[in-house]
Amino acid sequence: MTKEELANISMPAHIGIIMDGNGRWAKQRGLKRSEGHKEGAKVFRAICNYAQEIGVKYLTFYAFSTENWKRPAEEVSAIMDLFRDYLFEAQEREEENMAKGMRVRYIGERSALPEDIVTMITELEKRSADKDVITVNLAVNYGGRDEILHAVKTIAKKVEAGELKADNINLNDIDGNLFTAGQPDPDLIIRPSGEYRLSNFLIWQAAYSEFWFSDILWPDFTADDLDKAIIDYNKRNRRFGGI
Ligand code: IPE
Ligand code: IPE
Ligand code: MG
Repeated sequence: MTKEELANISMPAHIGIIMDGNGRWAKQRGLKRSEGHKEGAKVFRAICNYAQEIGVKYLTFYAFSTENWKRPAEEVSAIMDLFRDYLFEAQEREEENMAKGMRVRYIGERSALPEDIVTMITELEKRSADKDVITVNLAVNYGGRDEILHAVKTIAKKVEAGELKADNINLNDIDGNLFTAGQPDPDLIIRPSGEYRLSNFLIWQAAYSEFWFSDILWPDFTADDLDKAIIDYNKRNRRFGGI
């Protein structure tokens, strides 16, 4: 984005990205699906840096859904290895990331992930907790329905304990018990790869999100594509039910 464009644009505070199309990208090139994921992981890093440069405050990347466990074990473990690589790298580049003011958060059900990954992500969350230039949410073993179920259980326990009356449960109680508690809802959700669905991504938070779809496969996604999505977003008229 040029400086001029940047000065005239309303930047979405929170962008959600469904990183889809890695498998098809690999297939097109006669490569293994894991090669597509590897390339997708590089694009994730590049887009993360670029979004920070242009002033996005919250960025959520959908990397692995609660449904993705259905895939062959070999593919699942290749994806977990990439996540592990990223976390290692984040440790090695800690100073650089801290200087950038990047806060990293994990969203999803971490107990199902390999133990070393859980340890690294928890550490990274702790160490970056006070950074406030950009918050990056990594959605791994994330499902919107699971997230709502998790919130419902937490609230039900409060009711059981007599701390809350069922009639007094309000929207803030639900919001406040999602993995994204305290963060703004996504203004813009981007899904490449030619699919027009949420696939269980931020289903509660997306109530009034704007959507941007494209046929580009995630490994081909560039900073220019992010610019296009943000520029299109600026042409939308968000009414939130008003006139
Ligand atoms: C997205 O790419 C990555 C994950 C879901 C983990 P896909 O692996 O879904 O790629 P396609 O949709 O098969 O092309
Ligand atoms: C959504 O992609 C999940 C992620 C990108 C992590 P999928 O490829 O799993 O979605 P479906 O199965 O096409 O809906
Ligand atoms: Mg897919």
